[in-house]
Amino acid sequence: TRVFVPRDSAARSVGADEVAERLAVLAPEVEVVRNGSRGMLWLEPLVEIETPAGRIGYGPVAPEDIDGLVAGGMLAGARDLAACLGSVEALPWMRQQQRLTFARVGVTDPLSVDDYTSYGGLRGLRQALAQTPAEVVETVVESGLRGRGGAGFPTGIKWRTVLGASADLKFVCCNADEGDSGTFADRMLIEGDPFTLIEGMTIAAYAVGASEGYVYLRSEYPDAVATLRAAIELARTEGWLGDDVLGSGSGFVFDLQVRVGAGAYICGEETSMLESLEGKRGMVRAKPPIPALQGLFGLPTVVNNVLSLATVPTILANGAEAYASYGVGRSLGTSVFQLGGNVARGGIVETAFGITLGELVNDFGGGTSSGRPIRAVQVGGPLGAYLPTEQFDLPMDYEAFAAAGAMVGHGGIVVFDETVNMAAMARFAFEFCAAESCGKCTPCRVGAVRGVETIDRIVAGDNREKNLVVLGDLCDLMTDGSLCAMGGLTPLPVRSAVRHFGKDFGS
Ligand code: NAI
Ligand code: SF4
Repeated sequence: TRVFVPRDSAARSVGADEVAERLAVLAPEVEVVRNGSRGMLWLEPLVEIETPAGRIGYGPVAPEDIDGLVAGGMLAGARDLAACLGSVEALPWMRQQQRLTFARVGVTDPLSVDDYTSYGGLRGLRQALAQTPAEVVETVVESGLRGRGGAGFPTGIKWRTVLGASADLKFVCCNADEGDSGTFADRMLIEGDPFTLIEGMTIAAYAVGASEGYVYLRSEYPDAVATLRAAIELARTEGWLGDDVLGSGSGFVFDLQVRVGAGAYICGEETSMLESLEGKRGMVRAKPPIPALQGLFGLPTVVNNVLSLATVPTILANGAEAYASYGVGRSLGTSVFQLGGNVARGGIVETAFGITLGELVNDFGGGTSSGRPIRAVQVGGPLGAYLPTEQFDLPMDYEAFAAAGAMVGHGGIVVFDETVNMAAMARFAFEFCAAESCGKCTPCRVGAVRGVETIDRIVAGDNREKNLVVLGDLCDLMTDGSLCAMGGLTPLPVRSAVRHFGKDFGS
């Protein structure tokens, strides 16, 4: 019998290691596989038993429950136990998703080469190597894939720019700094299916003519660092990386390394990340020049988010059309949404663009965990807008969100109940900006501090109307005058809080 107990850090934080250890003692005859997480975080630790009828789930399983569950027949897939969830694949949360990027996460052993290849791994890379680099780039253009880090720039167009740049050395850099609050998909992908990221980066390198890759991974993710480093070692041993990738005889050379950040939010901004990778302090560079032309060490560089790169293998394996058949408008394919905050069922929902915010928060999320009514959700990280429940019919679509004064960003959705004070949340946006600003430009460095003071005056009733005008002017200035998205987007949560929740500002 094979028993699956996740090694994902979210599962470990609620006792998955202890569950696995106890199982090994109680039933030494079973093979305990440490898989990634399925993304149903409220059910962790989720234990799955392989049976002829598929994988049967039990969760959440506390370490102290294990003895009773084993005695009750869990290892034989007993269905009459209270913790039994039935077939994991048949759970509505799983069935209603379209998992393309996350197809293997939670299913396989993240560091098993056999699992990877038997579940479709390397098909995309093999397909890419059978094409010319320009053909690979065009496939990615046609798929409609847009940057999943937040800005939504077409990935294929970015690659086309790098392919067209002539240089002896080019780089592929993966931004795995995932600094946005309420986002965890990059981490779960790396911990749960690291070979997919390696494969995606290798395809990117082949497509643009790069030979070196770097993954800039945040120090707050020690499990992801260890898993990715182990996966890279295995990939080298297997000949998936190195002097003649996959032994294709094409002479295509690619290798990659992990670099660990030091905890600055701004190092998730691509130019700041490049400075940090070069060993310097993470300060934002002015654009242009764009990194595609002058990136790492001044050379042409692809900078993509984890999810953008990890989606490329499925696009190459199944074709651009198959991917583009999902989604709406110019938001094609699937996105990996992350439900967090005060939500009953938090976790990963990978689904086609076009699903509404309300469907995600209510149908998948099950409302708040406190049981109180929802008051606001913040979409797209700490620089994203706060939306009231009146906007729950908004489809998850880059353009629809922009038109509503909001952004999809990296797909993180944080839920707040009726007890939230939105003036305090707006103040927090400025505080966060003041703490994380790189300090290079005045609208952000000084504006964030003035913003905190202005909100304090408004809330205290000190010249309220006049200070609301000052706040609006400050937001305009930061939006128009900041060098990067840190200062440029901080007004988004502030303005949306004032617009939708004016009561909290004394209106
Ligand atoms: P941007 O719009 O300036 O650029 C997007 C990307 O397209 C960049 O990689 C840029 O170099 C590239 N690009 C632009 N024109 C190009 C061209 N002609 N050819 C090739 N490449 C081109 O946006 P930026 O500042 O990179 O990102 C801002 C976004 O980051 C925000 O919208 C926010 O959602 C997101 N963000 C994500 C965070 C996370 O933790 N994932 C944290 C904070 C912000
Ligand atoms: Fe630095 Fe803020 Fe200016 Fe960005 S907006 S360059 S973080 S000071």
